[in-house]
Amino acid sequence: MQMAFRSPALSAHARSVRDIAADVLVVPTFSDDDLADVPGLDAASGGEVTRARERGELTGKPYETLAVTLSGWKTTRALLVGLGARKDAGTEQLRRLATVGGLQARQRRLTHVTILHRARTAVSPESAAQAMSEGVVLANYDGASFRTSGPPASWVETAELWIEGDQHGIGAAVTRGRVLGEYSNEARALANAPGNELTPRVFADRAAAIAKAAGLAAEVLDEQRIAALNMGLVLGVARGSQEPPRLVVLRHDPPKAVSNVVLGLVGKGITFDTGGISIKPAENMDKMKDDMSGGAAVICAMAAIARLNAPVRCVGIVPMTENMPGGRAVKPGDVLTSACGKTVEIINTDAEGRLILGDGLWYAQELGATHLVDVATLTGACVVALGKTTSGLFGAPDTWVEAVRRASARAGDRSWPMPVYDDYKDQLKSEIADFTNTGGRSAGAITAALFLKEFTRDKPWVHIDIAGTAWAEEAKPYQPKGATGVAVRTLVELALDVSSWSSSAQ
Ligand code: BES
Ligand code: MN
Ligand code: ZN
Repeated sequence: MQMAFRSPALSAHARSVRDIAADVLVVPTFSDDDLADVPGLDAASGGEVTRARERGELTGKPYETLAVTLSGWKTTRALLVGLGARKDAGTEQLRRLATVGGLQARQRRLTHVTILHRARTAVSPESAAQAMSEGVVLANYDGASFRTSGPPASWVETAELWIEGDQHGIGAAVTRGRVLGEYSNEARALANAPGNELTPRVFADRAAAIAKAAGLAAEVLDEQRIAALNMGLVLGVARGSQEPPRLVVLRHDPPKAVSNVVLGLVGKGITFDTGGISIKPAENMDKMKDDMSGGAAVICAMAAIARLNAPVRCVGIVPMTENMPGGRAVKPGDVLTSACGKTVEIINTDAEGRLILGDGLWYAQELGATHLVDVATLTGACVVALGKTTSGLFGAPDTWVEAVRRASARAGDRSWPMPVYDDYKDQLKSEIADFTNTGGRSAGAITAALFLKEFTRDKPWVHIDIAGTAWAEEAKPYQPKGATGVAVRTLVELALDVSSWSSSAQ
């Protein structure tokens, strides 16, 4: 098996452009652009840049690419990449541009890449450096790591960012971007791994190894320890499988943490979701190997939080199990008792994510969490509501939801708030237990969130439904098919931003 990803050596500087020695110079091109701040480019291309513009081949629209050869410069190739209008160029545009540049370089088997930052946008040099670093690291991911035939993948080996500004601040931003990119790739590799490889036990071992390498305290609870904690919801889902469940607990406890807050991150770790006795149709069931993407995001975010020394105490909780229809599987009509004592009537065994998260949210609070965020590929209904580009945000209070939304915007993980009015709770009424695990077709993403809310003791809590965003069905110029690593960067940005949300009244 080949490596799924690799980190390029990253650096930033602002020397003379014509002295840059790389295999390819990536030049962002705006739609309203004369490239005047890249002097000599047109001449070095022998006038090809001007001719391409006259032909209509170079318009600067997003992700358009034009390769030209340069003479008289140390780098002999430039790749002009469209960035749209200059006034619209934000961090996400720069992140994507860097990914396009990196992916195009890899396709051409070029290994040393320099990416120019064109100043005079609204983005600070530091934000640009971080976003472009993330983007180029994200380009160094290969989803076909199980193929044994064909040429080996080509990688970006060095990536230089050409950015004017305070090089010290830019250097720190490059490090942040590199770490965020690396752990997004790590999460993609976990989510792309097939269910037969990544069983709950293997997932837990890999989580512990990732944590250890980042200097995090990691604990793996086995089925006996899970039973000792009375996690009836986790055990109920695991009953249908031959594979025992696991619960991974990660802790980040920095010496200089903001006092009185503990960020509790909880991720759904279903390594394969058949639906259980309420079995899913065959079509697209293979995709359900990614049903642990939320768990992968929590593990990788925790590792990045440790690497970047975010000044906030964090606990990461990931319950891990398969959802299988074995002979001892939980059945519709069964009643399960959660670790906090609440009872749940199972209507549909395919609504398993909320069950394991219920016990996970409880445990995060047992370990001291004051602010909760859970991440889960939870509902098809969320995909219907928001599609494949935007994750759903659910929670309370609004200030906490807004803190998570802002973090996701900085991260380039689009998300949008949905309502969690108590009125919807009627849909979860059970005749014999405290509530049911499903609330019918209408508002399916919201009733799933309201189920989770039962386990939050009204602490600040946000649920991020990544059912639509965890997996890219189609390749885009800036994103290959498959696992996206969504929410890793959101959670890290949130932890880094602790001083802003810990001081607001919640
Ligand atoms: N893992 C699925 C949600 C999902 C669906 C993720 C499609 C990605 C794409 C989840 O466990 C599930 O099966 N949810 C059910 C809930 C229903 C039974 C109330 C769903 O959305 O259909
Ligand atoms: Mn399911
Ligand atoms: Zn699921």
